[in-house]
Amino acid sequence: MGILSRSPTSTRRSEDNGMKLLATALFAIAFGILLGLSFPSLWITKASLPENVLHSIAISHRDSDTATPTQDIDISKACTERLPPGIIASESDFYLRRLWGNPEEDLKKKPRYLATFTVGYKQRYNIDACVKKFSDNFTIVLFHYDGRTSEWNDEFEWSKNAIHISVLKQTKWWYAKRFLHPDIVARYDYIFIWDEDLGVDHFDAEEYIHLVKKHGLEISQPGLDPERGFTWQITKRREHIEVHKETDEKLDWCSDPPRPPCAAFVEIMAPVFSRDAWRCVWHLIQNDLVHGWGLDFALRRCVEEPAHEKIGIVDSQWIVHQFIPSLGSQGKEEKGKSPWQGVRDRCHLEWKLFSSRVENAEKDYFKTLQVQSPSNSTIFQ
Ligand SMILES: *[C@@H]1O[C@H](CO)[C@@H](O)[C@H](O)[C@H]1NC(C)=O
Ligand SMILES: *[C@@H]1O[C@H](CO)[C@@H](O)[C@H](O)[C@H]1NC(C)=O
Repeated sequence: MGILSRSPTSTRRSEDNGMKLLATALFAIAFGILLGLSFPSLWITKASLPENVLHSIAISHRDSDTATPTQDIDISKACTERLPPGIIASESDFYLRRLWGNPEEDLKKKPRYLATFTVGYKQRYNIDACVKKFSDNFTIVLFHYDGRTSEWNDEFEWSKNAIHISVLKQTKWWYAKRFLHPDIVARYDYIFIWDEDLGVDHFDAEEYIHLVKKHGLEISQPGLDPERGFTWQITKRREHIEVHKETDEKLDWCSDPPRPPCAAFVEIMAPVFSRDAWRCVWHLIQNDLVHGWGLDFALRRCVEEPAHEKIGIVDSQWIVHQFIPSLGSQGKEEKGKSPWQGVRDRCHLEWKLFSSRVENAEKDYFKTLQVQSPSNSTIFQ
């Protein structure tokens, strides 16, 4: 209303307005006809979209919670068919823009790397230490599971340029699935998806990226200080080398080609993905499984073979896992089980569910391949 009443036309006499309206209407009609003539394809695409495409879009929205990917849809294609390619912006980033001036001049810097941390306010000093190990070539995203966001800006200057996403009591993989879609983070060459309880005294992010590029690692993690505990042999930091890709112990039970957890393995606490690998891993993350357990064993499917060449541990930039059980306190006491135990049990359950989904999906997929292929025995034994 305010804007309308400020318009100068409202002060003119009413018949003036009538003439103006008529002229505008006539012009609009003529323009519409012209437009229709020049871009007939624009008008027919929607109508001519095949029935099954529209149908499957509807289905995919309804069933979006199920794990099985809908095979016959390509929503992005359906949409692109309606738009002329020149106007489509299919990718985004986390760059902050101004509200004024020329958009072309908004960005002084376009960071090529992305670092995300899932945090609670209690761990702010540790996160502050982490963020200081990441140069301004990184965009910083914080996922807050405790709802406390504004306090960070009071304490840390860097926080004002960070992206804060606040949703109560969710896990790192829940946030990643919802806010780090590959098209949203397409600008970033490498993506760090890290926990909040990592000690980074011996870590520098720029140097880490340098090593990851040098050794062709699509998926990686920094080595873990063996003094402070680790779960898997392979993630243990080794001295005097830059990178390792296989365990050096218990090689008798490791298969050939080496497989997780002997090789092609990083843990889910501090993974780093290349853009390509992340595009695949994002799809691998199940919508309903929030803890990410078992994901580490499946990551190798997201790089090209030989997978054990593309996944590795960076030894010369290493971290300390402090084992702060922050998520446990986000659980709920139920049936006599402590909150901590309930969360733990769910982790184990998810691991089982995830493994069997992968196994079944592969079985089904290979079966279809066999049906389609005339020489089927050679593909998979
Ligand atoms: C940021 O990246 C540029 C280009 O790769 C590089 O020259 C510069 O040294 C990096 N900044 C820091 C602080 O390392
Ligand atoms: C492919 O494999 C399936 C199952 O092992 C078998 O039943 C089928 O006969 C094979 N097809 C050909 C063409 O070899």
